[in-house]
Amino acid sequence: MAASLGCGNPTALAQLRPGEIVLDLGSGGGIDVLLSARRVAPTGRAYGLDMTDEMLKLARENQKKSGVANAEFLKGTIENIPLPDKTVDVIISNCVINLSGDKNRVMREAFRVLKPGGRLAVAA
Ligand SMILES: C[S@@+](CC[C@H](N)C(=O)[O-])C[C@H]1O[C@@H](n2cnc3c(N)ncnc32)[C@H](O)[C@@H]1O
Repeated sequence: MAASLGCGNPTALAQLRPGEIVLDLGSGGGIDVLLSARRVAPTGRAYGLDMTDEMLKLARENQKKSGVANAEFLKGTIENIPLPDKTVDVIISNCVINLSGDKNRVMREAFRVLKPGGRLAVAA
């Protein structure tokens, strides 16, 4: 709980299944990524994306403490997601999209990386 800076609980909405690829936009301290990674294990993977080095450092420390292996934290912005087209099953985001100055671009990027039939669970 100390790792959460969010305002909702998108992982509760997302109905994650083993084997799925999850992406958290603005992952902060990484709590939603680590919880998601456990739910998609052993073959699935969860990515966290954040633009600040401080939050990436905190998330990676939390990952080490948690012992979760199938998670990875990426540096970048949610307006320019550093993942290829159609590679993600589920996007989650907790209290970050609301902070963006270009929400249309964030949504275009989200739909670009989602696989056909992919899901999006957002606490704005
Ligand atoms: C309110 S915190 C929420 C963190 C996390 N989702 C949670 O629930 O604990 C917002 C996070 O989003 C990141 N962030 C804000 N705008 C961003 C952007 N445009 N691209 C990437 N990360 C962003 C911040 O660095 C911060 O870690």
